[in-house]
Amino acid sequence: MSRFYDIVSNPARIMGNSLPSAPPARLESSTRIIRLDSNENPFGPSPKAIDALQNGISSVNCYPDDDCGLLRQKLAKHHELPADQVLVTAGSTAMLSLLCQTLLAPGLNAVTSECSFIVYSMAVQAAGARLIEVPMREDKLDLEAILAAIDTNTRMVLLANPNNPTGTMLEADEVQRFQALLPAHVVLILDEAYYEFAQHFASLRRITYSNSLEYVRLGASVVVLRTFSKAHGLAGLRVGYGIGPAELLGYCARMRNTFSVASVAQAAAMAAIDDTDHIQHVVENNFLQARVLTQGLSALGYRVAPPAANFLFCGLGEDAAAVALFLREEGVAVKPLGSWGAPNFIRVTIGTPEQNQAFLRAMRTLSARRTATETRVSRLG
Ligand SMILES: Cc1ncc(COP(=O)(O)O)c(C=O)c1O
Repeated sequence: MSRFYDIVSNPARIMGNSLPSAPPARLESSTRIIRLDSNENPFGPSPKAIDALQNGISSVNCYPDDDCGLLRQKLAKHHELPADQVLVTAGSTAMLSLLCQTLLAPGLNAVTSECSFIVYSMAVQAAGARLIEVPMREDKLDLEAILAAIDTNTRMVLLANPNNPTGTMLEADEVQRFQALLPAHVVLILDEAYYEFAQHFASLRRITYSNSLEYVRLGASVVVLRTFSKAHGLAGLRVGYGIGPAELLGYCARMRNTFSVASVAQAAAMAAIDDTDHIQHVVENNFLQARVLTQGLSALGYRVAPPAANFLFCGLGEDAAAVALFLREEGVAVKPLGSWGAPNFIRVTIGTPEQNQAFLRAMRTLSARRTATETRVSRLG
């Protein structure tokens, strides 16, 4: 057991095991589970992306373009930025790891919020650095407290916007005020994995979600993370990217694994950008179904935070792990949030109308059973 303990690196030794996630749907037993636990796109990829994948499959004997040149140029044009301000990686979490490897080291730290994206602590610890997690204020990232936690050894601040798992959104002016107060030795990482969903919610609520690319255009020490895993439905292909200062992205590029973004993944991502109809369908369903789920859960007495992404943060008032187990038996997977310090909360991905109805049916069954038990207990009492 301890054969390699003394010779592995310190981060490998001290990092906890990563959380076991549910096995991919195809590995599960014959019963079909509705997966509302990983914030995936319930409609799948765009048909255009599937065509691009199929067309590219016969060339997979060749290594991919290490620089993802065509995709990089397309993204640069799409975001109206020079190509050297975009770096494509195998998912946005790979970009995050590159940033941690590039900016952090033992003795240095990154600051983020408690109850945020679980990968932050893994990426920071793998770089041998410390993650400072600041308590939230009413389910929201507490920007003042995050600012106060920054010290001379801080090299990055990580803000998930919207935050996973609480789904709360920071508005553009809050982020702008915060960014202006950051010291020069700190890089702000704005994780906008749920950008398309948040943008849709914000436009219908008539608020401004994000001006993050403006900060990059103005030369600020800001890196914006975006992904094809969510609204574009390509989570299994692993494509994401960072948008930031060319010099910093250049250092990150030195640290990356060679040929890490598959050629078919690059082709599918290019096609997915063009399929604006598919993205529109996905975000519109998400908005309407967020309302259906919120109303359904509220009617059962559960507390749901106003969403800004493709999932709900739902307070149950009871042990979420037990509820998740019950739902699993009813054929629906959700994420219980005990490991995030929220043992009475679940995170539920907003699915198709049919999936959401199946989830609500299971929640009603749970609620009816609880009422029946309570009635029995009170009769006995
Ligand atoms: C805040 C946040 N960032 C990034 C990601 C996705 O990462 P990737 O692009 O590596 O799939 C997720 C997925 O759950 C997330 O919640």
